[in-house]
Amino acid sequence: MNRVIYFKSRPKGMPDESNFEMVKEQIPEIQDGEVLIKTLYISVDPYMRGRMSDAKSYAEPYKVGEPFKGGIVGKVIESKNDKFQAEQYVEGILNWAEYSVSNGSGIRRIKPEWGPITTSLHVLGMPGLTAYFGLLYIGQPKEGETVVVSGASGAVGTVVGQIAKLKGCRVVGIAGGDDKCAFLTNELGFDAAINYKTVENLRKALKEACPNGVDVYFDNVGGAVSDAVMSRINFQSRTAICGQISQYNLEKPELAPRVAGQLLKTSSLMKGFIVSDYAEHNKEALIQLSQWVREGKIKYRESVVEGFENTVDAFLGLFRGDNIGKQLVKVAEE
Ligand SMILES: NC(=O)c1ccc[n+]([C@@H]2O[C@H](COP(=O)([O-])OP(=O)(O)OC[C@H]3O[C@@H](n4cnc5c(N)ncnc54)[C@H](OP(=O)(O)O)[C@@H]3O)[C@@H](O)[C@H]2O)c1
Repeated sequence: MNRVIYFKSRPKGMPDESNFEMVKEQIPEIQDGEVLIKTLYISVDPYMRGRMSDAKSYAEPYKVGEPFKGGIVGKVIESKNDKFQAEQYVEGILNWAEYSVSNGSGIRRIKPEWGPITTSLHVLGMPGLTAYFGLLYIGQPKEGETVVVSGASGAVGTVVGQIAKLKGCRVVGIAGGDDKCAFLTNELGFDAAINYKTVENLRKALKEACPNGVDVYFDNVGGAVSDAVMSRINFQSRTAICGQISQYNLEKPELAPRVAGQLLKTSSLMKGFIVSDYAEHNKEALIQLSQWVREGKIKYRESVVEGFENTVDAFLGLFRGDNIGKQLVKVAEE
Protein backbone atom coordinates (compact mmCIF):
# COMPACT_ATOMS: atom_id res chain seq x y z
CA MET A 1 0.00 0.00 0.00
CA ASN A 2 0.97 3.64 -0.48
CA ARG A 3 0.24 6.33 2.11
CA VAL A 4 -0.41 9.76 0.56
CA ILE A 5 -1.00 13.10 2.35
CA TYR A 6 -3.67 15.24 0.68
CA PHE A 7 -4.22 19.00 1.05
CA LYS A 8 -7.70 19.11 2.57
CA SER A 9 -8.42 22.78 3.35
CA ARG A 10 -6.79 26.22 3.29
CA PRO A 11 -5.77 27.41 6.77
CA LYS A 12 -6.65 30.72 8.34
CA GLY A 13 -3.69 31.75 10.45
CA MET A 14 -1.53 28.93 11.76
CA PRO A 15 -2.14 25.67 9.84
CA ASP A 16 -2.89 22.46 11.75
CA GLU A 17 -3.37 18.74 11.16
CA SER A 18 -7.00 19.29 10.03
CA ASN A 19 -5.72 20.97 6.83
CA PHE A 20 -4.26 17.61 5.75
CA GLU A 21 -5.55 14.08 5.29
CA MET A 22 -3.57 10.85 5.04
CA VAL A 23 -5.06 8.25 2.70
CA LYS A 24 -4.02 4.65 1.92
CA GLU A 25 -3.97 3.79 -1.77
CA GLN A 26 -2.56 1.15 -4.10
CA ILE A 27 1.03 1.74 -5.20
CA PRO A 28 0.58 3.35 -8.65
CA GLU A 29 1.50 1.56 -11.88
CA ILE A 30 3.71 3.41 -14.32
CA GLN A 31 3.18 4.06 -18.04
CA ASP A 32 5.74 4.51 -20.82
CA GLY A 33 8.01 7.48 -20.05
CA GLU A 34 7.39 7.33 -16.29
CA VAL A 35 9.36 6.26 -13.21
CA LEU A 36 8.16 4.90 -9.87
CA ILE A 37 9.99 6.50 -6.95
CA LYS A 38 10.17 5.28 -3.37
CA THR A 39 10.39 8.24 -0.98
CA LEU A 40 13.35 8.15 1.42
CA TYR A 41 13.36 11.71 2.83
CA ILE A 42 10.85 14.57 2.70
CA SER A 43 11.93 18.20 3.05
CA VAL A 44 9.48 20.43 4.92
CA ASP A 45 9.94 24.11 4.06
CA PRO A 46 8.41 27.42 5.24
CA TYR A 47 7.51 28.48 1.66
CA MET A 48 4.88 25.73 1.62
CA ARG A 49 2.78 27.85 3.98
CA GLY A 50 2.52 30.48 1.23
CA ARG A 51 1.31 27.90 -1.28
CA MET A 52 -1.45 26.82 1.13
CA SER A 53 -3.01 30.24 0.65
CA ASP A 54 -4.72 31.23 -2.59
CA ALA A 55 -3.25 34.75 -2.52
CA LYS A 56 -1.22 35.62 -5.63
CA SER A 57 2.48 34.96 -5.13
CA TYR A 58 5.55 33.73 -6.99
CA ALA A 59 4.54 30.08 -6.59
CA GLU A 60 1.22 28.62 -7.67
CA PRO A 61 -1.17 27.86 -4.76
CA TYR A 62 -1.60 24.17 -3.88
CA LYS A 63 -4.95 22.84 -5.09
CA VAL A 64 -7.29 21.63 -2.36
CA GLY A 65 -8.07 17.93 -2.85
CA GLU A 66 -4.71 17.11 -4.45
CA PRO A 67 -1.71 15.44 -2.82
CA PHE A 68 0.54 17.93 -0.97
CA LYS A 69 3.89 18.39 -2.71
CA GLY A 70 7.43 19.26 -1.78
CA GLY A 71 11.12 18.47 -2.12
CA ILE A 72 11.80 14.74 -1.85
CA VAL A 73 14.80 12.42 -2.14
CA GLY A 74 13.91 8.96 -3.29
CA LYS A 75 15.05 5.84 -5.07
CA VAL A 76 13.87 4.75 -8.49
CA ILE A 77 12.09 1.42 -8.06
CA GLU A 78 10.98 0.92 -11.65
CA SER A 79 11.60 2.94 -14.80
CA LYS A 80 9.99 3.16 -18.23
CA ASN A 81 11.93 6.36 -18.93
CA ASP A 82 15.27 6.14 -20.80
CA LYS A 83 16.87 8.82 -18.61
CA PHE A 84 16.44 6.91 -15.31
CA GLN A 85 17.21 3.40 -14.15
CA ALA A 86 16.09 1.37 -11.14
CA GLU A 87 18.23 1.84 -8.01
CA GLN A 88 19.22 5.44 -8.91
CA TYR A 89 18.67 8.21 -6.38
CA VAL A 90 16.67 11.27 -7.45
CA GLU A 91 15.60 14.61 -5.98
CA GLY A 92 12.68 16.78 -7.01
CA ILE A 93 9.25 18.16 -6.21
CA LEU A 94 6.99 15.13 -5.70
CA ASN A 95 3.84 14.19 -3.78
CA TRP A 96 3.97 13.74 -0.01
CA ALA A 97 3.63 9.98 -0.48
CA GLU A 98 5.61 6.84 0.22
CA TYR A 99 5.67 6.12 -3.53
CA SER A 100 5.12 8.52 -6.41
CA VAL A 101 5.22 8.59 -10.18
CA SER A 102 7.14 11.11 -12.27
CA ASN A 103 7.45 11.61 -16.02
CA GLY A 104 11.05 12.68 -15.38
CA SER A 105 10.55 16.43 -15.66
CA GLY A 106 11.48 18.31 -12.49
CA ILE A 107 13.53 15.48 -10.98
CA ARG A 108 17.32 15.21 -11.09
CA ARG A 109 19.69 12.32 -10.46
CA ILE A 110 21.87 12.56 -7.38
CA LYS A 111 24.88 10.41 -6.65
CA PRO A 112 25.74 9.22 -3.11
CA GLU A 113 29.45 9.79 -3.91
CA TRP A 114 28.70 13.57 -4.03
CA GLY A 115 27.86 13.40 -0.31
CA PRO A 116 24.95 12.20 1.85
CA ILE A 117 21.83 12.15 -0.33
CA THR A 118 19.95 14.37 2.13
CA THR A 119 22.27 17.31 1.39
CA SER A 120 20.49 17.72 -1.96
CA LEU A 121 17.53 18.99 0.11
CA HIS A 122 19.54 21.66 1.95
CA VAL A 123 23.16 22.77 1.70
CA LEU A 124 23.54 21.31 -1.82
CA GLY A 125 19.98 22.10 -2.85
CA MET A 126 17.37 24.86 -2.73
CA PRO A 127 18.17 26.34 0.73
CA GLY A 128 21.94 26.39 0.05
CA LEU A 129 21.39 28.10 -3.30
CA THR A 130 19.10 30.62 -1.62
CA ALA A 131 21.80 31.51 0.91
CA TYR A 132 24.48 31.73 -1.78
CA PHE A 133 22.56 33.99 -4.18
CA GLY A 134 20.95 36.25 -1.58
CA LEU A 135 24.19 36.86 0.28
CA LEU A 136 26.64 37.09 -2.61
CA TYR A 137 24.50 38.67 -5.35
CA ILE A 138 22.47 41.10 -3.20
CA GLY A 139 24.44 41.40 0.04
CA GLN A 140 27.83 41.57 -1.71
CA PRO A 141 29.74 41.28 1.59
CA LYS A 142 33.25 42.70 1.74
CA GLU A 143 36.06 41.75 4.08
CA GLY A 144 35.76 43.49 7.44
CA GLU A 145 32.05 44.28 7.05
CA THR A 146 29.35 43.21 9.52
CA VAL A 147 26.69 40.76 8.30
CA VAL A 148 23.55 40.08 10.35
CA VAL A 149 21.32 37.10 9.53
CA SER A 150 17.93 36.38 11.11
CA GLY A 151 16.51 32.85 11.20
CA ALA A 152 20.21 32.15 11.62
CA SER A 153 20.10 28.56 12.88
CA GLY A 154 17.89 27.23 10.07
CA ALA A 155 18.64 25.65 6.70
CA VAL A 156 19.28 28.95 4.88
CA GLY A 157 20.64 31.00 7.80
CA THR A 158 23.40 28.54 8.75
CA VAL A 159 24.79 28.63 5.21
CA VAL A 160 24.51 32.43 4.95
CA GLY A 161 26.56 32.97 8.12
CA GLN A 162 29.27 30.51 7.12
CA ILE A 163 29.69 31.99 3.62
CA ALA A 164 29.92 35.46 5.21
CA LYS A 165 32.69 34.16 7.51
CA LEU A 166 34.52 32.77 4.45
CA LYS A 167 34.34 36.28 2.96
CA GLY A 168 36.09 37.72 6.04
CA CYS A 169 33.08 39.39 7.68
CA ARG A 170 31.97 39.81 11.28
CA VAL A 171 28.86 37.61 11.47
CA VAL A 172 26.00 38.02 13.93
CA GLY A 173 23.10 35.56 13.99
CA ILE A 174 19.63 36.04 15.47
CA ALA A 175 17.83 32.85 16.52
CA GLY A 176 15.16 31.64 18.93
CA GLY A 177 17.00 29.60 21.55
CA ASP A 178 20.16 29.46 23.68
CA ASP A 179 20.97 26.03 22.20
CA LYS A 180 20.63 27.52 18.72
CA CYS A 181 22.88 30.48 19.58
CA ALA A 182 25.51 28.19 21.12
CA PHE A 183 25.47 26.06 17.96
CA LEU A 184 26.07 29.16 15.81
CA THR A 185 29.01 30.50 17.82
CA ASN A 186 30.59 27.24 19.03
CA GLU A 187 30.17 25.03 15.98
CA LEU A 188 29.71 27.31 12.98
CA GLY A 189 32.10 30.12 13.91
CA PHE A 190 29.63 33.01 14.11
CA ASP A 191 31.14 35.95 16.04
CA ALA A 192 27.99 36.52 18.10
CA ALA A 193 24.43 35.24 18.33
CA ILE A 194 21.36 36.79 19.94
CA ASN A 195 18.36 34.87 21.27
CA TYR A 196 15.50 37.13 20.16
CA LYS A 197 13.03 35.24 22.34
CA THR A 198 14.75 36.02 25.64
CA VAL A 199 16.83 39.15 25.03
CA GLU A 200 15.51 42.13 26.99
CA ASN A 201 16.33 44.79 24.43
CA LEU A 202 17.14 43.55 20.92
CA ARG A 203 18.30 46.96 19.65
CA LYS A 204 20.75 47.28 22.54
CA ALA A 205 21.99 43.72 22.04
CA LEU A 206 22.52 44.45 18.33
CA LYS A 207 24.43 47.62 19.16
CA GLU A 208 26.78 45.60 21.36
CA ALA A 209 27.14 42.75 18.85
CA CYS A 210 27.63 45.11 15.89
CA PRO A 211 29.83 47.96 17.23
CA ASN A 212 30.49 49.13 13.66
CA GLY A 213 26.84 48.94 12.57
CA VAL A 214 25.31 46.57 9.99
CA ASP A 215 26.54 46.50 6.39
CA VAL A 216 24.57 43.48 5.18
CA TYR A 217 21.30 42.17 6.56
CA PHE A 218 20.03 38.79 5.33
CA ASP A 219 16.39 38.75 6.41
CA ASN A 220 14.66 35.39 6.87
CA VAL A 221 12.00 36.44 9.36
CA GLY A 222 10.78 40.06 9.06
CA GLY A 223 8.64 41.62 11.80
CA ALA A 224 10.02 43.12 15.00
CA VAL A 225 13.41 41.40 14.60
CA SER A 226 13.97 43.15 11.27
CA ASP A 227 12.73 46.50 12.60
CA ALA A 228 15.51 46.31 15.20
CA VAL A 229 18.19 45.40 12.63
CA MET A 230 17.12 48.18 10.26
CA SER A 231 17.71 50.73 13.02
CA ARG A 232 21.43 49.77 12.92
CA ILE A 233 22.15 49.79 9.15
CA ASN A 234 25.19 51.66 7.85
CA PHE A 235 25.70 54.00 4.92
CA GLN A 236 25.24 52.03 1.66
CA SER A 237 24.12 48.86 3.46
CA ARG A 238 22.46 46.01 1.57
CA THR A 239 19.43 44.05 2.82
CA ALA A 240 18.37 40.83 1.10
CA ILE A 241 14.74 39.96 1.81
CA CYS A 242 14.73 36.19 1.66
CA GLY A 243 11.81 35.27 3.93
CA GLN A 244 9.26 36.76 6.33
CA ILE A 245 8.33 33.72 8.38
CA SER A 246 7.10 35.83 11.33
CA GLN A 247 4.34 37.09 9.06
CA TYR A 248 3.23 33.90 7.27
CA ASN A 249 0.53 32.91 9.76
CA LEU A 250 -0.83 36.36 10.58
CA GLU A 251 -4.50 36.90 9.86
CA LYS A 252 -4.10 40.69 9.83
CA PRO A 253 -1.01 42.60 8.66
CA GLU A 254 1.18 44.01 11.45
CA LEU A 255 1.65 47.74 11.94
CA ALA A 256 5.34 48.52 11.83
CA PRO A 257 7.93 51.26 11.47
CA ARG A 258 8.37 52.52 7.92
CA VAL A 259 11.88 51.80 6.69
CA ALA A 260 11.94 54.06 3.61
CA GLY A 261 13.37 57.02 5.55
CA GLN A 262 16.14 54.87 7.00
CA LEU A 263 17.02 53.55 3.51
CA LEU A 264 17.07 57.11 2.17
CA LYS A 265 19.24 58.50 4.99
CA THR A 266 21.79 55.73 4.56
CA SER A 267 21.69 55.39 0.73
CA SER A 268 20.89 51.72 1.34
CA LEU A 269 19.55 48.93 -0.83
CA MET A 270 16.75 46.53 0.12
CA LYS A 271 15.86 43.81 -2.37
CA GLY A 272 13.53 40.82 -2.28
CA PHE A 273 14.45 37.73 -4.26
CA ILE A 274 13.39 34.19 -5.07
CA VAL A 275 16.05 31.52 -5.46
CA SER A 276 14.86 30.73 -8.99
CA ASP A 277 15.69 34.32 -10.09
CA TYR A 278 19.30 33.13 -10.27
CA ALA A 279 18.67 29.65 -11.78
CA GLU A 280 21.14 30.25 -14.61
CA HIS A 281 23.90 30.32 -11.95
CA ASN A 282 22.82 27.12 -10.15
CA LYS A 283 25.66 25.01 -11.54
CA GLU A 284 28.41 27.43 -10.55
CA ALA A 285 26.88 27.84 -7.07
CA LEU A 286 26.53 24.08 -6.49
CA ILE A 287 30.14 23.46 -7.55
CA GLN A 288 31.32 26.10 -5.05
CA LEU A 289 29.02 24.97 -2.21
CA SER A 290 29.99 21.30 -2.62
CA GLN A 291 33.68 22.23 -2.60
CA TRP A 292 33.20 24.18 0.65
CA VAL A 293 31.31 21.24 2.19
CA ARG A 294 34.00 18.73 1.11
CA GLU A 295 36.71 20.99 2.57
CA GLY A 296 34.80 21.25 5.87
CA LYS A 297 34.43 25.02 5.40
CA ILE A 298 30.65 24.78 5.46
CA LYS A 299 29.13 22.51 8.10
CA TYR A 300 25.50 21.53 8.38
CA ARG A 301 23.11 19.98 10.82
CA GLU A 302 19.90 18.05 10.15
CA SER A 303 16.88 17.70 12.43
CA VAL A 304 15.33 14.41 11.36
CA VAL A 305 11.83 13.27 12.32
CA GLU A 306 11.23 9.55 11.74
CA GLY A 307 8.10 8.23 10.01
CA PHE A 308 5.92 9.37 7.12
CA GLU A 309 2.95 9.80 9.49
CA ASN A 310 4.87 12.60 11.27
CA THR A 311 5.40 14.73 8.14
CA VAL A 312 2.66 17.27 8.88
CA ASP A 313 3.84 17.77 12.45
CA ALA A 314 7.42 18.26 11.23
CA PHE A 315 6.14 20.97 8.86
CA LEU A 316 4.17 22.69 11.65
CA GLY A 317 7.30 22.48 13.83
CA LEU A 318 9.04 24.99 11.53
CA PHE A 319 6.70 27.66 12.93
CA ARG A 320 7.38 26.55 16.51
CA GLY A 321 11.13 26.71 15.86
CA ASP A 322 11.63 22.97 16.55
CA ASN A 323 14.51 22.59 14.12
CA ILE A 324 18.22 23.33 14.27
CA GLY A 325 19.57 23.24 10.72
CA LYS A 326 17.49 21.53 8.05
CA GLN A 327 14.21 19.87 9.04
CA LEU A 328 13.74 16.53 7.27
CA VAL A 329 11.41 13.56 7.59
CA LYS A 330 12.92 10.11 7.19
CA VAL A 331 10.35 7.94 5.43
CA ALA A 332 12.35 4.78 4.58
CA GLU A 333 15.85 3.34 4.89
CA GLU A 334 18.22 4.01 2.00
N1 LIG B 1 13.40 33.66 -1.25
C1 LIG B 1 13.56 32.36 -1.46
O1 LIG B 1 13.73 31.90 -2.60
C2 LIG B 1 13.56 31.43 -0.28
C3 LIG B 1 14.00 30.09 -0.40
C4 LIG B 1 14.05 29.30 0.75
C5 LIG B 1 13.61 29.79 1.97
N2 LIG B 1 13.15 31.08 2.02
C6 LIG B 1 12.73 31.67 3.30
O2 LIG B 1 13.86 31.70 4.13
C7 LIG B 1 13.46 31.55 5.50
C8 LIG B 1 14.24 30.40 6.13
O3 LIG B 1 13.87 29.19 5.48
P1 LIG B 1 14.51 27.81 5.95
O4 LIG B 1 14.11 26.77 4.99
O5 LIG B 1 15.94 28.01 6.23
O6 LIG B 1 13.73 27.55 7.33
P2 LIG B 1 14.39 27.28 8.73
O7 LIG B 1 15.06 28.54 9.16
O8 LIG B 1 15.19 26.02 8.68
O9 LIG B 1 13.13 26.98 9.67
C9 LIG B 1 12.26 27.96 10.06
C10 LIG B 1 12.76 28.73 11.31
O10 LIG B 1 12.12 29.99 11.33
C11 LIG B 1 12.10 30.47 12.65
N3 LIG B 1 10.79 31.08 12.94
C12 LIG B 1 9.59 30.47 12.96
N4 LIG B 1 8.62 31.34 13.30
C13 LIG B 1 9.25 32.53 13.54
C14 LIG B 1 8.81 33.82 13.94
N5 LIG B 1 7.51 34.07 14.17
N6 LIG B 1 9.74 34.82 14.08
C15 LIG B 1 11.04 34.58 13.86
N7 LIG B 1 11.52 33.37 13.46
C16 LIG B 1 10.64 32.37 13.31
C17 LIG B 1 12.34 29.28 13.58
O11 LIG B 1 13.61 29.46 14.20
P3 LIG B 1 13.76 30.31 15.57
O12 LIG B 1 13.86 29.31 16.66
O13 LIG B 1 15.02 31.07 15.33
O14 LIG B 1 12.54 31.18 15.71
C18 LIG B 1 12.39 28.08 12.63
O15 LIG B 1 13.30 27.11 13.07
C19 LIG B 1 11.95 31.36 5.48
O16 LIG B 1 11.34 32.61 5.74
C20 LIG B 1 11.67 30.90 4.08
O17 LIG B 1 10.36 31.21 3.66
C21 LIG B 1 13.11 31.90 0.93
